[in-house]
Amino acid sequence: MNSELKKAVDEVTAGYTVDNKTLIDGADLFVQMMKEGLALSKPQRLTMPMIPTFVTAVPLGKEKGLYLAGDLGGTNFRVCSVQLNGDHTFNLEQQKTKIPQDLMTGAQGLPLFRYLAEKIGLFIKEHHQNYCTEENDNRLKLGLTFSFPVDQTALHQGSLIRWTKGFDLPDVVGRDVVGLLQIQLDELTVPVDVVALANDTVGTLLLRAYSNDESKTKANTVVGCIFGTGTNGAYYESRENIKKINVESKGMAINTEWGSFDNGLKVLPNTKYDQIVDAETANPGYHLFEKRISGMFLGELLRVTLKDLADRELLFCDLKKERGGSLPHRLVSPWQLDSQVLLYLEIDDSTNLKMSQLILENELRLKTTPEERIAIQEITRAISKRAALLSSIPISAIVKHVKHLYKHDDNDFEIGCDGLVVEFFPGFKERIYEGIKIINPLLDLKKKIVLTIAKDGLGVGAALCASVA
Ligand code: GLC
Repeated sequence: MNSELKKAVDEVTAGYTVDNKTLIDGADLFVQMMKEGLALSKPQRLTMPMIPTFVTAVPLGKEKGLYLAGDLGGTNFRVCSVQLNGDHTFNLEQQKTKIPQDLMTGAQGLPLFRYLAEKIGLFIKEHHQNYCTEENDNRLKLGLTFSFPVDQTALHQGSLIRWTKGFDLPDVVGRDVVGLLQIQLDELTVPVDVVALANDTVGTLLLRAYSNDESKTKANTVVGCIFGTGTNGAYYESRENIKKINVESKGMAINTEWGSFDNGLKVLPNTKYDQIVDAETANPGYHLFEKRISGMFLGELLRVTLKDLADRELLFCDLKKERGGSLPHRLVSPWQLDSQVLLYLEIDDSTNLKMSQLILENELRLKTTPEERIAIQEITRAISKRAALLSSIPISAIVKHVKHLYKHDDNDFEIGCDGLVVEFFPGFKERIYEGIKIINPLLDLKKKIVLTIAKDGLGVGAALCASVA
């Protein structure tokens, strides 16, 4: 690498470095923000929402029956039916469709809910035809996983606080999303009642708790979390700590909405690239933790970093000359670099980073020199390393906050995780463990924190919510 480029790459990667103090202070601040959020009835920008979910018990694995689940959380809508067998196992049928881009943003939210209802109707016709005959007036119960911040007022009721992850349909904000879906189902005479509303993290928590046979794993499931398009976590909180509502049961699952941890940027690193990405989003100033961590933003962070180096004439100079002064459209336009590309760039160990060369040409129409690819790989690794280390903050903080509730046994603390980033990014989980070791939330307790991948949490978790409704 020429010395000027090397110097710039070193500066950029240093900016993406997280030191131990950030992690340790971050975990303390997280616990403080949990407590503040649990006391505050109206979420504010600088606090974490800490939303009561009205899910008052964690499943034991004995639940039975057929339930439906719908899952809206990123770019796809998934409908599933789940047969709970009552022995920690289940059978699942599912169908997934990509949501048309024009339904994700715009003045009207109704077409989106119409689309969801149509997909549910089609699924039932295909997989549960017996519910569609005139003689059968039984209705199916559906749990809706809706992975956006919702101010939940009952298990089956909640109004949208704001959209995240690229959705922007302003007329839905403040309205009950279950009601909006039920109206469309009824209009289409689909025999389904939406009986529960759950965030994806709650689904993940419930699924792991249902599947976890403690006698075998010697672990209690304490957190359900997502590191995918967005990031967030849910855990079970005891009644006396939930100051903002009156809880009649022993406790309740709380959806932290940790994407909004430290919107005040007291401890989080804040490079100029973070600021550019935040300014490009529909919710600037919000979900700043998520914007450093999750799949939707990692690609964009890399893109704006590369564009900056190109603007400073440190990268892609030959290419620019060749193209008469312009750079490929996909490098200069926001949101064109899919985070999956980072995955390939990160693991590439081919000679001259040939695999990266192909990926960059295919995905971004970006021709690169071997030297440029080394620079790109170093930056990619710095961005994903930062994301993984920062991810250890909420996990450590929640375990620190709840560990006293699990004094009665020697079981480990299990964290059920779902999402593309944690599942497929090389070394992501290991780096979370590295961060947990630095924060050391268990001090000298002889227990461990174990991250378990909880696949299909969304569907089964929502079905479990429907089963208790
Ligand atoms: C975003 C949403 C949150 C969801 C998370 C993971 O942070 O606000 O509700 O759980 O993405 O999908």
